[in-house]
Amino acid sequence: MNESGAPLGGGLSGRVALITGGNGGIGGTFARALAARGCTVLILGRNEQKSLQVAEEIRAAGGRAETYTADVTDEAGLGRVAEDIVQRFGGLNILINAAGGNVRAATAQQDQLADAGEETTFFDLPAESLQQEVDLNLRGTWLPCKVMAPLMEGRTGACILNISSMGALTRIPGYSAAKAGVSSFTRWLATYLARSGIRVNALAPGFFSTEQNRALQFNEDGTPKPRLQKILAGTPMGRLGRLEELTGAMLFLTDERASGFVTGVVLPVDGGFSAYSGV
Ligand SMILES: NC(=O)c1ccc[n+]([C@@H]2O[C@H](COP(=O)([O-])OP(=O)(O)OC[C@H]3O[C@@H](n4cnc5c(N)ncnc54)[C@H](O)[C@@H]3O)[C@@H](O)[C@H]2O)c1
Repeated sequence: MNESGAPLGGGLSGRVALITGGNGGIGGTFARALAARGCTVLILGRNEQKSLQVAEEIRAAGGRAETYTADVTDEAGLGRVAEDIVQRFGGLNILINAAGGNVRAATAQQDQLADAGEETTFFDLPAESLQQEVDLNLRGTWLPCKVMAPLMEGRTGACILNISSMGALTRIPGYSAAKAGVSSFTRWLATYLARSGIRVNALAPGFFSTEQNRALQFNEDGTPKPRLQKILAGTPMGRLGRLEELTGAMLFLTDERASGFVTGVVLPVDGGFSAYSGV
């Protein structure tokens, strides 16, 4: 419930929401949830087929959804999307940056150097793998904010929601660094836009199983990897999150009747992972 006693997200009807990675696990969940609350959802992804699937599912349920095929690291491509949005929808109310994830080539194969055998260590990782992580996760958030925020000025309930992550995680140094950048950039942009009527926040999900991290958590035959046992041991609630459990936090941060004075926060949704020191 929000301040007016209305259900969370109940005031979002009629809003136009662009979701990068809206064809993925978290982005798709958010697309369906916002469409169910009356938003026109614009799904942006690289894989047109995957985007169309989500859009068709939303339309079949009576919602409004359109798709854009673009890469979040390509400024010119995002510019063309922005022009089309202005022509067809007049502007944007909500931007959710949910494209991102791990890059396999940027992964060390052990938690600590002392455990290393023959397999890839941090010292074997090519510098390009850091660039790939930073491009996808940080540039891929920075650029959509830069290109789309001008479409949001003066629009009701204008807000940006980025997706950060937990702090430094073992094995994925570039991802951890890039997501720290996303958290810091979120706070910077929130300050910068605070008097322009655009709120900027981020979610920091704990551990949810989706396409981009499945190989870190499960073997090919579906059995859990030791890393998953570690994740569960480090999560006081003792389980992975369910994607729907991110929806309430997303609706809270995008519904200005609930969070109109909230900007610059990075909200963990993690079953207690970030609160727990391990002892
Ligand atoms: N799943 C988790 O446990 C978890 C935890 C913390 C943070 N996150 C973050 O949440 C976000 C969403 O991840 P997810 O778990 O839903 O992953 P996902 O792989 O299911 O979805 C990511 C989507 O982004 C799209 N994408 C990738 N690169 C792109 C590009 N360059 N341009 C446009 N689209 C691109 C992919 O096609 C995919 O559909 C990511 O930023 C991820 O780092 C996820």
